[in-house]
Amino acid sequence: MTTEDTREYVLGDTEELAGEHFGYLQQLLDPQTTACLDSAGVRSGMRCLDVGAGGGSISRWLAGRGADVLAVDVDTTHLTGSPRVEVLRHDITDGVPGRDRFDLIHVRLVLMHLSRRAELLAMLADRLVPGGWLVIGEYLGPQTRVVSTPGSAEEALFHRVQQTAHAAAARAGAVSFTWAHEVDARMREAGLVNIEARSFTPTAQGGSAAALLSSNLVRQVEDLALRDGLTAEDLRAYHHLMRDPRFRAWFYEFVCTRGQRPAGGPVRFPAR
Ligand SMILES: C[S@@+](CC[C@H](N)C(=O)[O-])C[C@H]1O[C@@H](n2cnc3c(N)ncnc32)[C@H](O)[C@@H]1O
Repeated sequence: MTTEDTREYVLGDTEELAGEHFGYLQQLLDPQTTACLDSAGVRSGMRCLDVGAGGGSISRWLAGRGADVLAVDVDTTHLTGSPRVEVLRHDITDGVPGRDRFDLIHVRLVLMHLSRRAELLAMLADRLVPGGWLVIGEYLGPQTRVVSTPGSAEEALFHRVQQTAHAAAARAGAVSFTWAHEVDARMREAGLVNIEARSFTPTAQGGSAAALLSSNLVRQVEDLALRDGLTAEDLRAYHHLMRDPRFRAWFYEFVCTRGQRPAGGPVRFPAR
């Protein structure tokens, strides 16, 4: 946890908030992610790598399908090993651990936080067996479309907190909310084929998992946001709003992209 790139990930400092965060991601994103993985084809005996596995829900799902999974994360506090899931504390910016090639590599909401994301994607693509799949899930943002609020002051507060929290996180780390749309082209440059992306955007009602995830993420960058001009009262009102069922807004768009290493080996295309 000591390299420059690891510090680019500004979330995860508080164990309880990180645990909650992973729970919401599992609830909101696992149905879309497992559909994307299924479209690539998951079979018993596959060798899989789950990068930045977090709470391990996708590692467990793959293992439940009979795959053998190496789950790596810089912080393995929330990961539990099992006969089919090997847990390894590892910083992916230091390279892919070991010498194995993988039938499937899954990376969700990790590369968007790391500045060398395009290089890391190419590095992961190189560690696929011929015919193997790389599956990358990322959020696009920010959240800007409010559907209903208790009042105009609450709507203004929502936008102010979102803008400040995103700007503070981007300055402290390296997060990109546009990278999700670049993944397709970067996969192509890395020589992958059969590339396909799917996107999903729910609305978030106060009290729903999506709104509570918003609240959780703002809590995780609270110190940064307070330094950038939000007040404790702004934050208290924001967390209250995220529990108010009169509030509804479109949530972040989740984009899951898959690409396959050609059976005959990689084909390189020049960068555009
Ligand atoms: C937003 S969470 C996503 C967790 C999980 N992939 C999911 O979607 O439920 C990002 C995860 O990436 C891990 N991470 C951040 N930087 C990393 C790095 N350089 N190498 C490995 N893991 C990293 C974090 O510790 C965290 O568990």
